[in-house]
Amino acid sequence: GENHDLAGRRIVVTAGGTREPLDPVRFLGNRSSGKQGVAIAEAARARGAEVTLIAANLEVADPAGCDLRRVSSALELQAAVTEAARGADAVIMAAAVADYRPASISEQKIKKDGSGDGLTIELVRNPDILAGLGHAPHDGTLLVGFAAETEPDDGRLLELGRAKRRAKGADVLVVNRVGWNEGFASDDNSVVILGGDDEIVTRLHGTKPSVAGAILDVVVSKFAHTAED
Ligand code: PMT
Repeated sequence: GENHDLAGRRIVVTAGGTREPLDPVRFLGNRSSGKQGVAIAEAARARGAEVTLIAANLEVADPAGCDLRRVSSALELQAAVTEAARGADAVIMAAAVADYRPASISEQKIKKDGSGDGLTIELVRNPDILAGLGHAPHDGTLLVGFAAETEPDDGRLLELGRAKRRAKGADVLVVNRVGWNEGFASDDNSVVILGGDDEIVTRLHGTKPSVAGAILDVVVSKFAHTAED
C-alpha cells in the first residue's frame, strides 16, 4: 500500500469462529470464515502496522506478513488476546466467539443412548473477552468490537449495537448485519461503525476489504485525536 498511516503501530486482530469441543471428534461452532478479520489484518499490514492475527479456524488462506497465532476455542482465544493486547495500540475483535461451551468435554466419543430420542447437552458461559478488556484499564489501547445482529429493523439494530458497545466498554463498535445469507462467510458486508459517543461514524455496504479500510480509517482518526489531547 501507498498509505502508511499505521506505521509504528502494533495492532491485534482476531478472526474466524471459535469451536467448543464436545468430545474428541465434535464441536459447537459457527459459520465465521475469517474473511472479515483477515481483510482487516491484511489492510493494517499494508498500511504499515505490525499485526498480530489471532486466528480461530480460518477457512481462508493465512495472510502474509502477520504474526499468526492459531487458536480454536474461546478460552484459547482469550489467553492469546490477553497476552497480545499488552502494549498494543489497538485490538480489533472481528472473531465470532462462542458465548457458551459444553460444561464438560467427554474423553470418549459420545455414544447414542438407547433410552430415548433426545440428547441434552449442558452449557456454561464463556468469559466475555472484549468486555474483560474494556472494563480493565486499557490506557493507550483502542478497543474495536463488533456486534453481529440479525435484527431486520435498522433502528433496533443500532439500539442493540449501542447497548453492546456500552456493555463491553469498546471505544469503537462495528454493528454488522448478519443472517442466513449475510455477514458470515459472504464476500460482502453491511456495517455501521459507532464511535465512543454512540454517534454513527460510517455506514457502509461493500466488500470485506473495503469494510476493513473503513474500520482502519476510524482507527487512524481516533489515534490522531489521542495524539492531540
Ligand atoms: O468471518 P466472516 O465469515 O468474514 O464473518 C465476519 C463476521 C460477521 C463474523 C464479523 O464481521 C463479526 O461480526 N464478528 C463478530 C461476531 C460476534 O461474535 O459478535 P457478537 O455480537 O456475538 O459479539 C460482540 C463482540 O464481543 C465481538 O467483537 C466478539 O468478538 C466479542 N465477544 C463475544 C463473545 C465472547 N464470549 N467474547 C467476546 O469477546
